[in-house]
Amino acid sequence: MSKVLIIGAAGQIGSELTQKLREINGKDNVVASDINYSNTHVVNSGPFEILDAKDFNAIKNCIEKHHIDTVYLMAAMLSATGEKHPMMAWDLNMNSLFHVLNLAKEGVIKKVFWPSSIAVFGPTTPSVQTPQHTTMEPTTVYGITKQVGERWCDYYHKQYGVDVRSIRYPGIISWKTMPGGGTTDYAVEIYHKAITDKRYDCFLSENTELPMMFMEDAIEATLQIMKAPSEAIKIRSAYNLAAISFTPKQIAASIKKHIPDFKIGYNPDFRQKIADSWPKSIDDTQARLDWNWKHNYNLEQMTKEMIFQLEKKYSSSEKVT
Ligand code: SER
Repeated sequence: MSKVLIIGAAGQIGSELTQKLREINGKDNVVASDINYSNTHVVNSGPFEILDAKDFNAIKNCIEKHHIDTVYLMAAMLSATGEKHPMMAWDLNMNSLFHVLNLAKEGVIKKVFWPSSIAVFGPTTPSVQTPQHTTMEPTTVYGITKQVGERWCDYYHKQYGVDVRSIRYPGIISWKTMPGGGTTDYAVEIYHKAITDKRYDCFLSENTELPMMFMEDAIEATLQIMKAPSEAIKIRSAYNLAAISFTPKQIAASIKKHIPDFKIGYNPDFRQKIADSWPKSIDDTQARLDWNWKHNYNLEQMTKEMIFQLEKKYSSSEKVT
């Protein structure tokens, strides 16, 4: 049985990945780690270590202590926070990747998952049905780190045979753990505010279309790419991945079907420029061909599930994180 370490397990995607992998592999085979104990569910549902993704020796010690063979590196500073702290974003996003890639190169671990993002694209990229291979001139620090990271993943695979796998996540929408510091975060906040305030002031303009995906699909894609035989993974930088694309106006309309008195206002801030530099939709044919990726949730199904789960969460005594 493979033994897994998740770095950044308290975050939006890391927390759900931890839960799913613990269900599949057994909790003792999935070590979660993060820089604090804030996500009590992750901390209490199996082995947990405090780990700074920037600290090579700490990662190595943790891997040796738990006999880890596979690492999911989910720690990163996202696009909006990255613009406020460019050097910190570079430091965290790049050094954590080098640490994990070098441990794989040394043979300490066998397999790596590292997420890339639609942020690798920029204003010169074709924005509709963005192809797998295209112009990439990202304008955010986050996008630069992800693009450079992709090149290094490909390099470590070709030069050293490292089994690293990656997908370019679109904006991920989920109800369990809040995202933090991203430009696509509005599409999560809007559901929370629809339930608590019946009103949301959006930091993007009404017709800003971005590629998005429900968490269930994102987790499924992650498990699928990691399960695929190595020879099926033909792209070792990162795969385009798509599910749905919508604008703030369209997500608001889908919420109104469930909460008729929901109101939305628009107050674009610095994140508008980031969103405008990203694609509207993504062509993910290659992922569908190489490892049989397909999404399940459309906007209406996702809205129904989000509202159902969040209404339950807010009406129970459970803390909303
Ligand atoms: N969700 C990310 C962000 O908005 C994009 O990968 O920064």
